[in-house]
Amino acid sequence: MSTNALRKLGPYTTTSIGLGCMPLSLENNLGVEKGVETIHAALDAGCRHLDTAWAYYESGKEPGANERLVRQALSTWDGPREEVIVASKVGHFRNFTDGVPTWGQDARPERLIHDAHESLENLGVDAIDLLYMHRPDPKVDYAESIEAMKQLADEGVAKTIGISNASVEQIDIARSILGDKLVAVQNQYSPVYRSTRDILDYCAKLGLAFVCWSPLGGYRRAVDESKFEPFKQVATKHGVSYQQVILAWELAQGEHVFTIPGAHRPQTILDSLHASVLELSAEEMELLNRG
Ligand SMILES: NC(=O)c1ccc[n+]([C@@H]2O[C@H](COP(=O)([O-])OP(=O)(O)OC[C@H]3O[C@@H](n4cnc5c(N)ncnc54)[C@H](OP(=O)(O)O)[C@@H]3O)[C@@H](O)[C@H]2O)c1
Repeated sequence: MSTNALRKLGPYTTTSIGLGCMPLSLENNLGVEKGVETIHAALDAGCRHLDTAWAYYESGKEPGANERLVRQALSTWDGPREEVIVASKVGHFRNFTDGVPTWGQDARPERLIHDAHESLENLGVDAIDLLYMHRPDPKVDYAESIEAMKQLADEGVAKTIGISNASVEQIDIARSILGDKLVAVQNQYSPVYRSTRDILDYCAKLGLAFVCWSPLGGYRRAVDESKFEPFKQVATKHGVSYQQVILAWELAQGEHVFTIPGAHRPQTILDSLHASVLELSAEEMELLNRG
């Protein structure tokens, strides 16, 4: 196993590449059976980090659908369950009223606490390994939302806390309230979204994990494909998929970086997991870092 396969995330040692479970329960998912098969394939291949959220559900399904899928997959897996960390999130919901699914924020303290208790039940655990506040809610003072996350940690609903879609200023607020209960920041970061680089570097300085969401540009792929060109060039040289090169490039940004590629099927996550053993040269990193 390569040196970047396992990394420290707060109190946990876990795989640098986790499975982003979101596509398994949103629009165009391939059904529960394929979802369980995909999670089992990832776990069987050594992945020990699953990322889910209360808000990952499609129209016609109840909130928590993805958390219940994760629970079903873990309870039917015959591997070492205790090695797997499950991260979930609260503070977001879905809106299906205008025909096109959208996302809304609700990070009022009472809502965060209510949804976190539902997440516990959905996941079928006594405490959530890592619980993120999904996204800042402009209608709610950030510190008030974070106080609710602290309450969840103090009451043992969550073992550790993360924040997602956070700015430097919000990281400072969260640290001042949560202290060492705050272990991770999950922000968007990929070849098509590099503007959070300052947050990635700030996390390194503070000893916080930085988890890249939509690390391949997002499952809907409405992105500028030309940004992938240098990754494709390097991939051809190594004889691997360019997605592996993207993930290896992200992991090479620092020992505190984790990446959680999404997948609808076993094949894609199995390919992605190989990125943890892909070594990129200094020249290749220089090319890819140029953007
Ligand atoms: N915190 C937040 O606000 C937030 C927001 C968005 C996402 N997330 C998290 O981030 C995770 C990942 O983001 P994402 O799912 O939007 O997008 P992503 O990981 O950037 O892209 C996923 C897409 O890439 C494809 N793919 C993955 N590995 C591949 C490979 N090796 N070769 C070819 N194609 C590959 C998948 O294909 P197939 O469909 O063919 O399997 C899937 O369609 C989510 O699952 C979720 O857990 C968090």
